[in-house]
Amino acid sequence: MNLRTQVGIVGAGPAGLLLAHLLHLQGIESVVLESRSREEIEQTIRAGVLEQGTVDLMVASGVGERLRREGFFHEGIRLRFDAREHRIDFPALTGGKKVTVYAQHEVLKDLVRARLEAGGQILFEVRDVTVYDLDTAAPKVRYRTREDELRELACDFIGGCDGTQGVCRRHIPGGTLAVFEKVYPFAWLGILCEAPPSSDELVYALHERGFALVSTRSPEIQRLYLQVDPGDKLESWPDERIWAELRERLATRDGWAPKEGPIFHKTIVGMRSFVLEPMQYGRLFLAGDAAHVVPPTGAKGLNLAVADVRVLARALEKFYKSAKTDLLEQYSATALRRVWKAQRFSWWMTSMLHRFPGGDAFQYRVQLAELDYVTSSRAASSALAENYVGLPLD
Ligand code: FAD
Ligand code: DHB
Repeated sequence: MNLRTQVGIVGAGPAGLLLAHLLHLQGIESVVLESRSREEIEQTIRAGVLEQGTVDLMVASGVGERLRREGFFHEGIRLRFDAREHRIDFPALTGGKKVTVYAQHEVLKDLVRARLEAGGQILFEVRDVTVYDLDTAAPKVRYRTREDELRELACDFIGGCDGTQGVCRRHIPGGTLAVFEKVYPFAWLGILCEAPPSSDELVYALHERGFALVSTRSPEIQRLYLQVDPGDKLESWPDERIWAELRERLATRDGWAPKEGPIFHKTIVGMRSFVLEPMQYGRLFLAGDAAHVVPPTGAKGLNLAVADVRVLARALEKFYKSAKTDLLEQYSATALRRVWKAQRFSWWMTSMLHRFPGGDAFQYRVQLAELDYVTSSRAASSALAENYVGLPLD
């Protein structure tokens, strides 16, 4: 059986679901195809920091009610180095902006619910997705349903929102895309534990033994990260070793120590920067991690996905309202300007806050001097704050 819609969307991550939601608000129909189950996407632990613009967009588009009630508003972060702590005050440096800590899977729950309540179609557990006829006015998505039926979805446009492992970009002819990539020689070990917040704001720490980050999820649950070797396996990080490293890397002169509790989730995530150019081929538009990946230090991954689909939704809206294609033609260039600024910021935060294997004492001293500068100069603090709370969405 063949289906038809205006915009076929591959991937029900933040990019795909928000695109479907924003299009729906403009009366544009879409179908979202997702390879995983609803339960799985709603339980996968990932990012947690939402920029001011992401929150504003969610609230303005009617999916921010629970976020406003349950999210934690943070007006600053702490930079810790040389056993000292310095606060970066976001509202004071950015004209009143802040960030919100609200887990990515909670954002997904809100978006899935909004789509389904509005009668939107999300097809979970589809397999063998392929996209074709991309350079015609009638691109198509072929897939197998959960019930193992082969289907074809005819569309006007396709949103390739299928993340880093996605298939959409593989259907773009070779030689069309330029790839820019940088792999970092370290990874993050992330944990969730049952303990109240150790700090009322996020703490980013550089220590001789490496990076550490204190974040939070709720009054009962903390999220913490530790720089580890990219080849490390979770087996080599028993709970006691994790706590010993966190205590050491986060220590201050006045004896601060993280609140500890049972660890119930552990992952190791590699770190890289990656950008594909252009983010479009024919009537296939890539958005979010399908087109670019950032190292997590700047907390930008989810926020970039949101910024992309806002630009794409506006371009599609203009097409359907006035048959004008100028914004669609500019989509890649418009999105990439912001993508590269977020790449720069994420690379800079990562470089400033991690120990590089083989890095010498000179490099470490320069990193400490940079942190000292960033925390003592209003201009440098403002540059960090402005990027952390998020550059304008367009
Ligand atoms: P995704 O969220 O990856 O969504 C893509 C969706 O497409 C997925 O649901 C996937 O199942 C689906 N899909 C893939 N292939 C197919 C296919 N062939 N057919 C159908 N569906 C398909 N960012 C931060 O800022 N801070 C963090 O701490 C952080 N932690 C992370 C931890 C992990 C383990 C990972 C993987 C990412 C993390 N990120 C983090 C990045 C952030 O989560 C992403 O930037 C964000 O999810 C991007 O959203 P997206 O919608 O573009 O892609
Ligand atoms: C979180 C993740 C990040 O990448 C970051 O920079 C800060 C916080 C988090 O998961 O809470």
